[in-house]
Amino acid sequence: MQNFNYHVPTKILFGKDKVTETAKEIKEHGSRVLLTYGGGSVKRIGLYDQVVNQLRENDLFFVELSGIQPNPRITSVREGVKLCRDNQIDFILAIGGGSVIDASKAIAAAVNYEGDAWDFLMQKARVENAVPLGTVLTLAATGSEMNGNAVITNEETREKRGMGSDQLRPKFSVLDPTYTFSVNKYHTAAGTVDIMSHIFENYFAPADGTFVQDIIAESILKTCIKYGPVALVEPENYEARANLLWAGSLALNGLTLTGKKTGDWATHGIEHEVSAIYDLTHGAGLAIIHPVWMKYVLSVETSSKFAQMARNVWNVEEPDDMKAAEKGIAAVREFFNSLGMPATLTDAQIPGEHFEEMGKKACIFGKIGSFKRLDAADVVAILKKAL
Ligand code: NZQ
Ligand code: ZN
Repeated sequence: MQNFNYHVPTKILFGKDKVTETAKEIKEHGSRVLLTYGGGSVKRIGLYDQVVNQLRENDLFFVELSGIQPNPRITSVREGVKLCRDNQIDFILAIGGGSVIDASKAIAAAVNYEGDAWDFLMQKARVENAVPLGTVLTLAATGSEMNGNAVITNEETREKRGMGSDQLRPKFSVLDPTYTFSVNKYHTAAGTVDIMSHIFENYFAPADGTFVQDIIAESILKTCIKYGPVALVEPENYEARANLLWAGSLALNGLTLTGKKTGDWATHGIEHEVSAIYDLTHGAGLAIIHPVWMKYVLSVETSSKFAQMARNVWNVEEPDDMKAAEKGIAAVREFFNSLGMPATLTDAQIPGEHFEEMGKKACIFGKIGSFKRLDAADVVAILKKAL
């Protein structure tokens, strides 16, 4: 296990009605709020009214940025930056899923930066002096509520890129499972896949002696396997929603990466290229690509880790590592299918075009992946196998 520092300063307010503590938390950091949300789900579930009433009762000034789309666009970010500057905003409150939170983080980063917000995504600028933000999460998936990452799409250049800074970790996040009752089957399934995929990205990575991290990772996978299907058939099952919600935060708050030099993240890199062009739901793209990636990188050298997953997570009883690995990968595919996710790009109405462009863009900063290094040709090969 490698040396590490682990510091996650995000305060989690977990449980039913915890949203009532939002204004109190905001006041610790600011008094002029940018309230951000998406296409209207927060209004339908009563969260918007709840938050706005609280802001008013507490004499907190606020302006709104609404309509942030899934796969959030840089244009929304620019709009938010202008609103912040015009209104001397000192706190951002994101209410919604990962897309709303990510756009809010990019806004937070860019308000006090002279150049364009896209510079952060192109690694041309570093985050300094970010505006503090908090979140009220409504969808179990990205972990954005407890990490410093944001993923933004540039619709003009058809690029989807990530940025990260500890400064962008939310000061607090409200996780009330009842706000996720209304998430439909498709997004519940996609969110469950995303959580599992985050675990895979750090699990299938070079590591030595990280037994505890691996066993935590396996437990989070088992949580998704147990409760994902329950949430699909019983959307108002509190236990299922609560477990998925907390699993989502734990899966990508740095916990399972501790003691390792780096995760793999090739699958996410490839998926981002697909959704940059086709605006595919992130988790659906991962459901297609992650099992394909697993098969592609499976070799004598990597088989023992896949076999470990097969035995510990999918209860595969097979002494031979390679055979166990293959059964484990098949189990991942079957599980994603059982959630109703697409299994191929064709299922998702994505044709075999633009693969060369995706390969080049995925490797714009060099080879990707750490479990197995991949170049643009590998990315194209994986996409072809995903067709
Ligand atoms: O826009 P609204 O009306 O709010 O509807 C949303 C949206 O249509 C809806 N929704 C959210 N909460 C709901 C709800 N509908 C009913 N009831 C609720 N309670 O769900 C749809 C999808 O929302 P979105 O925020 O896009 O989903 P998700 O949380 O999965 O976020 C996906 C984005 O996060 C990025 C992805 O690439 C994608 O752009 N990621 C961010 C990461 C991070 N910051 O760490 C890591 C991830 O790997 C990922 O890349
Ligand atoms: Zn993801």
